[in-house]
Amino acid sequence: MNRQDALALDAADPLAPLRHQFTLPEGVLYLDGNSLGVLPAATAARVQQVVAEEWGQGLIRSWNSAGWITLPQRVGDKIGRLIGAQPGETVVADSTSVNLFKVLSAALSIVQAASSTRRVILSERSNFPTDLYIAESLARERGFELVLADADALPGLLDDRTAVLMLTHVNYRTGRMHDMAAVTTAAHAAGALAVWDLAHSAGAVPVDLHGAGADFAVGCGYKYLNGGPGAPAFVWVHPRHASAFQQPLAGWMGHAAPFAFTPGYRPAPGIARYLCGTPPLLSMAALECGVDTVLAAEPLGGMGALRAKSLALTRLFADEVAARCPQLALASPADDALRGSQVCLTCPGQTELAYPVVQALIGRGVIGDFRAGDPSHPADALDILRFGFTPLYLRYVDAFDAAVHLQQVLDSGEWRRPEFNRRHAVT
Ligand SMILES: Cc1ncc(COP(=O)(O)O)c(C=O)c1O
Repeated sequence: MNRQDALALDAADPLAPLRHQFTLPEGVLYLDGNSLGVLPAATAARVQQVVAEEWGQGLIRSWNSAGWITLPQRVGDKIGRLIGAQPGETVVADSTSVNLFKVLSAALSIVQAASSTRRVILSERSNFPTDLYIAESLARERGFELVLADADALPGLLDDRTAVLMLTHVNYRTGRMHDMAAVTTAAHAAGALAVWDLAHSAGAVPVDLHGAGADFAVGCGYKYLNGGPGAPAFVWVHPRHASAFQQPLAGWMGHAAPFAFTPGYRPAPGIARYLCGTPPLLSMAALECGVDTVLAAEPLGGMGALRAKSLALTRLFADEVAARCPQLALASPADDALRGSQVCLTCPGQTELAYPVVQALIGRGVIGDFRAGDPSHPADALDILRFGFTPLYLRYVDAFDAAVHLQQVLDSGEWRRPEFNRRHAVT
């Protein structure tokens, strides 16, 4: 592949117009949409409208007149279209960590209500730490045990002690993707419930929660959904569970009649009981703009078309890196079916290169990120250079140019400069 080939792919790309929905800084190749999505062009005006008109002029009347009170459901239903949920099954609320606490608690309550002796929450050792921290603390509180294993060992560990299998669909470090339908079926066959974290899936890969028979799901608004820094998260519960069990954060927004102001808690029917406190309206308005940028792909083939382009971008980048940077190794699956929307690389002989190389790339305006290895586990010991590919706004030529920059940073030794070796708080 040469640069002209990449440009020709862009010229023939039916999804190319979707890039105009975003405000991208000049001279930046942004390969970190898996961490913080790009600002949609519509967001600033929409937030300004909410501030000036709905808040400034409408004041408290806007809870009714501007539909603020149903915004968690409205935006939730839009996200639902991206994850195989039916209307009325998804709400936007809180953070992914808090929503995971709610759904995991509800799942443990289901197990306990069945008088089951199952006491294991099973998860992946390299799951995102917040998921493991939440599960660990809940397990301690509720008399369960958190058991961790590598992805390949998980099916063999599902047994009559397993209460819940809790996984992130696409691994944050490697981009490796579980087969949600097969894994959920295996969990159910063993008598366990399946809880999915879709942080790196929603808006990135096709997800079919109903098709997979999943029990619970949560996910982030600020990554591939482009909702902005700290955007609220979402939560989905299968209708077979939603009204059957309470989640523990019994706030007034999840009450059946919040404005009756009665002293006793009565959970709202369905997914609304997963709300807790007052929704952050400005952030919700920004999130809706972000979700709309993904839904704009629906007439062009939707998540299927985005997935095809994402795979083509990650394949192009991985192939170019393999040809240009012999020092680096692919840490993401080479098999398309197993790879999410990111490419992760390691420096096998010199793991200490990963951080300064990422910093040197950022110095050139090529923004990816760095994730530290876990020295206590040989399989994950190496530091990772992580590059997210968001097909909504990335071009083939961006993937090509990023690989060329990476080669230049390595070949020139630019990464040795002291400023690229200084650790920042956020990596
Ligand atoms: C898989 C996964 N789950 C959860 C989170 C964190 O979610 P929050 O900060 O909204 O609690 C992240 C953040 O990167 C993540 O990658």
